[in-house]
Amino acid sequence: MRTKLLLFCVLFSVITNRSMAQGPYTPTAENLAQRQKFQDMKFGLFIHWGIYSILGDGEWVMHNKKIPYDSYKRLAGFFNPQEFNAKEWVAFAKQAGMKYITITSRHHDGFSMFGTKMSTYNIVDATPYHKDPLMELAKECEKEGIELHFYYSLLDWGRTDYAFGSPIVDGKPANGDWDSYIKFMKAQLTELITKYPGVKGIWFDGDWERTKVNWHYDEIYGLIHKLNPAIMVGNNHHVAPKDGEDFQMFEKDLPGGNTTGFAPDQTIGRLPLETCETINNSWGFNITDRSFKSSKQIIHYLVNAAGHNANFLLNIGPMPNGKIQSEFTDTLAIVGAWVQKNGESIYGTRGSSISAQPWGALTVKGKTVYVHITTPQGGPYIFIPQVKEKIAKAVLLSNGSAVKFKQQPEGVFIYTTGLTPDPVDTIIKLTMN
Ligand code: GLC
Repeated sequence: MRTKLLLFCVLFSVITNRSMAQGPYTPTAENLAQRQKFQDMKFGLFIHWGIYSILGDGEWVMHNKKIPYDSYKRLAGFFNPQEFNAKEWVAFAKQAGMKYITITSRHHDGFSMFGTKMSTYNIVDATPYHKDPLMELAKECEKEGIELHFYYSLLDWGRTDYAFGSPIVDGKPANGDWDSYIKFMKAQLTELITKYPGVKGIWFDGDWERTKVNWHYDEIYGLIHKLNPAIMVGNNHHVAPKDGEDFQMFEKDLPGGNTTGFAPDQTIGRLPLETCETINNSWGFNITDRSFKSSKQIIHYLVNAAGHNANFLLNIGPMPNGKIQSEFTDTLAIVGAWVQKNGESIYGTRGSSISAQPWGALTVKGKTVYVHITTPQGGPYIFIPQVKEKIAKAVLLSNGSAVKFKQQPEGVFIYTTGLTPDPVDTIIKLTMN
């Protein structure tokens, strides 16, 4: 009898474990198609916008200035972005050559920039604006063929169930209510995915604040893919991709780089890649930050990201009235004109197996290789090592004029003397046999 009971128990546990165990994530055909599309888009606009924008000191102002949550919450009462115009934002992104927008739906301050039913601490209920800018943006994006992705913070400085600062015991904050918090996030994500048209990505952030909790990613990612299998899930956790994710992101570094020190262990996986960077030195609106990147720096970032097989997500922090400052619009107009002219060497390309060179980077589309000379080193030629296929033709992208080259087993010499160099990026188009 005892052995029978034991056998029954073992069998029962095997069966239940089996049926409960989640196999590794298998992306659907729609998701795989979306990954290709994502990689083809190459250039996106990141937007950090929230009630913190009022203080003009970045999105970390509550934390950095040690503003008590109850005092910080007053900002909601002053947030009234009368000048916000979804049409203008989308047109601006489009003109800059961007194909998608990733916007903060809820940042670490816990304020929801959308009309959520899960908390009254949101733009519709808690501000005099009373409107939902993310809905307007979603509709406009859909109309204009721009993809919309939502940034979503895992970290919350204010909610009592999150209990910021609490010790973590057995994967949960001892002073909070972790199950309630996970439930809240799942409910908000459901709203974001089901109510807003055309959402194609969720961009998580804040995992790094609690490395010892169980974030329930299996449930959260599973829910997202159940609601819409095509949605691209990414997480700014600064480590290698986890099961259920669809793209890998890098913050302020090209894939493989770690100038920030955020990602000492972030190996490059096999998923589509994206790198994000700020247009000045801030994510959220910062009134004193004048360290604006030049159009040339931004174009080089885009080219280098593409050369590293990654998308470039460039961030701006709009002002609290809903306008985008002129320094950003001016610079991005120049970037847009450049992309308009040279887009074939960026959109739809993939990185080259030939790594970045001191003079620049390479992008590839089928049998075409684009050689981007962004940093001329002087001298009459550039050398591209390890070119395996035979080159049939080399021309200057800007005017189609023939470019001299000499192919050897070790690589290719491309002769640049006599070519009209471009001050930003001299692009040579190689057609391979
Ligand atoms: C960091 C910052 C956060 C910002 C994000 C964007 O995680 O903490 O404020 O939103 O970077 O990459």
